[in-house]
Amino acid sequence: MGNLDFIYNRHSIRKFSQQDVPMKDLKKILEASTYCASAKNVQNWHFVVVKNKELIENIAKAIEQKNSEIANQLNDESQKLAFTKFVRFATFFRSAPVAILVYASSYTPTGLEELKAVNGYEEEINHILEMSPQMQSIGALIENLLLAATEMGYGACWMTSGNYAAKEISSTINFEKKGFSLAAIVPIGVPNSPIKSPGRKPVDEVISVIE
Ligand SMILES: Cc1cc2nc3c(=O)[nH]c(=O)nc-3n(C[C@H](O)[C@H](O)[C@H](O)COP(=O)(O)O)c2cc1C
Repeated sequence: MGNLDFIYNRHSIRKFSQQDVPMKDLKKILEASTYCASAKNVQNWHFVVVKNKELIENIAKAIEQKNSEIANQLNDESQKLAFTKFVRFATFFRSAPVAILVYASSYTPTGLEELKAVNGYEEEINHILEMSPQMQSIGALIENLLLAATEMGYGACWMTSGNYAAKEISSTINFEKKGFSLAAIVPIGVPNSPIKSPGRKPVDEVISVIE
């Protein structure tokens, strides 16, 4: 009891071997991830499992293309340089044997309709929307996914930096689900590089105790 290794063993993995991840392992990981908490138990998610190497490569190319389309319109040269330079952090999933595309649907947070029906609550409305319970649920889902993948001997990485190409990604894989949009890409595979994570803020720095 009390051994938290399953948390500390997880690291973002950005290089993968070509070893396959069998569908039965993927199902086990995805099913476990759905046992997270979700606001009102709405379970506002849908997974698209892409195992076709060519399709995975085409998704990465769609992100690169959108990246250069946006970059070409930037006037600030240093912004342009940084945006194009860091595109690799949005596309390294191309080395993975599997890419899980996590789609999310929206959900009306408790109190939103009521606040909208009454004048003078703009700040509260903005706060509720910013703190998005639907995205908090997706966050819980993805963290579970990463922990489950690690526990099964795989590596994974939570990726949102290619989200500016969400439309192009969905048309590349020819996937559409009414009310759902792409929240993140999670590559999964056997890690192929030394595993290390950046440090954390000292815990005392992120705790305020009110007694
Ligand atoms: C919402 C979210 C989005 C992320 N998007 C990316 C990404 O697009 N590319 C990437 O390389 N890492 C991404 N990461 C991984 C973080 O960089 C990583 O979790 C952080 O540096 C801590 O390292 P660790 O996961 O190894 O502990 C993302 C993480 C989160 C939670």
